[in-house]
Amino acid sequence: MTEKRNNDAFSSNFGMIAAAIGSAIGLGNLWRFPYLVGQNGGAAFIIVYLIITLLICTPILLAEMVIGRRGGGSPRDAYIKVTGCKGWGAAGILGMLTCFMIMSFYVVVGGWTIRYLVMSIAPGFHRGAVLDSGAIFGGFVSSSFSPIIYSLIFILLTIGIINLGVQKGIEKTSKLMMPLLFVLIVLIGIRSVTLPGAQAGLHYLFKPDFSQFTFDSLLAALGQSFFSLSLGACMMVTYGSYTPRTSNLAKNAAIITVSDTFFALLAGCAIMPAVFAFGINPSEGAGLVFVTLPQIFTQMPLGGLCAILFFVTLFLAAISSSVSLFEVMTATIMDVGKTRRRTASSICAAILLFTGSICSLSQGALRSITIGGKNIFDQFDYVSSNILMTLGGLLAVLCVGWVIKKKIFIDEITDGGNIPVSKPLASALFFVIKYLAPIVIITTAISSIF
Ligand code: TRP
Repeated sequence: MTEKRNNDAFSSNFGMIAAAIGSAIGLGNLWRFPYLVGQNGGAAFIIVYLIITLLICTPILLAEMVIGRRGGGSPRDAYIKVTGCKGWGAAGILGMLTCFMIMSFYVVVGGWTIRYLVMSIAPGFHRGAVLDSGAIFGGFVSSSFSPIIYSLIFILLTIGIINLGVQKGIEKTSKLMMPLLFVLIVLIGIRSVTLPGAQAGLHYLFKPDFSQFTFDSLLAALGQSFFSLSLGACMMVTYGSYTPRTSNLAKNAAIITVSDTFFALLAGCAIMPAVFAFGINPSEGAGLVFVTLPQIFTQMPLGGLCAILFFVTLFLAAISSSVSLFEVMTATIMDVGKTRRRTASSICAAILLFTGSICSLSQGALRSITIGGKNIFDQFDYVSSNILMTLGGLLAVLCVGWVIKKKIFIDEITDGGNIPVSKPLASALFFVIKYLAPIVIITTAISSIF
């Protein structure tokens, strides 16, 4: 505990924002968002996504921050301290388990990004070597050995940052990587929108087609907003506890949401115009970035360079998110097991290597094992995104809205009156946290069962 108390804090407000944006921007923005837009009616999906993100999910993000900064320590500690009830510690443990589950498939995809980065740098990539990209991707992910090695490399890189601690590891790398990510995605976007025939992609993104938008799309938009903002898994509870007292939490929540959403839109602008310019069906699904894009890169001018830039972007986005997931697990194990950072992170890495390998093998050798019609990889994704994160988000808003109450909430977001937050805004945020968010979460959860 002593080590944690002494070292674990961000050195500045900017450090906190960079780390949180690092967590938010990830595979969710570059890999999931574009294909969900493709499958759910383009701009129709984007509009609904924006509304949900702004109105519902930003206040939930704020609720998590309040719990973390008010309580301090690991998520379990924080929940117990703010509620004064030991039972609430379970919400912190649930967050850790959710992170474990997300990480189990996240490290597999992280490993794929390293493999593709290596492939894009190797000679021959841009000369048509991956024209049969579907078969190459399928062959790689279904093999037993090499995807696990790449996942292991991804885990080791993550743990390297975690072991450096909050300031020297998480904060420093985030401050470097976040600006770089924006520059890279803008560069790729410029190449993409200047391809002949690119306008069709922009139309598709920004012209709503509500006929494609169904009730399932609404659920997908809420789920994506949760996933992209890293909600419901105690990420912000953990980072909140490292946040300086002088930070304006409501403003930070807005900055984080806007940056994450802006990046998702930039990713859409980098990917969709190129997809349309080459006449490919945009609703390709999960294979979009690993199958469709490599094919496009091999055919377009400057494609070799774009491929490298793209996979560097994907890798940086993935690792900064993976660091935040890993930190929730490490902080909780440090607290529960009273261990040092290195011991805790090694325990996490060992478990992850095991669960990650199972997820990886479920794409090949263990494909025949299915739970509820899904392989293990998909089931981990489904259960964590659709059940555990939703439950975690619900617990966070119930905790702030119904247990710790408005006075403490306002005290925390204004730092006891030192930070000016207008009364109507504070009340509106609290109203969403207390009533609207729980209602939306519970209604969507119930309706997704039927
Ligand atoms: N937000 C990340 C992404 O978009 C994923 C992620 C990172 C995450 N940390 C999380 C999701 C914590 C839930 C909880 O890729």
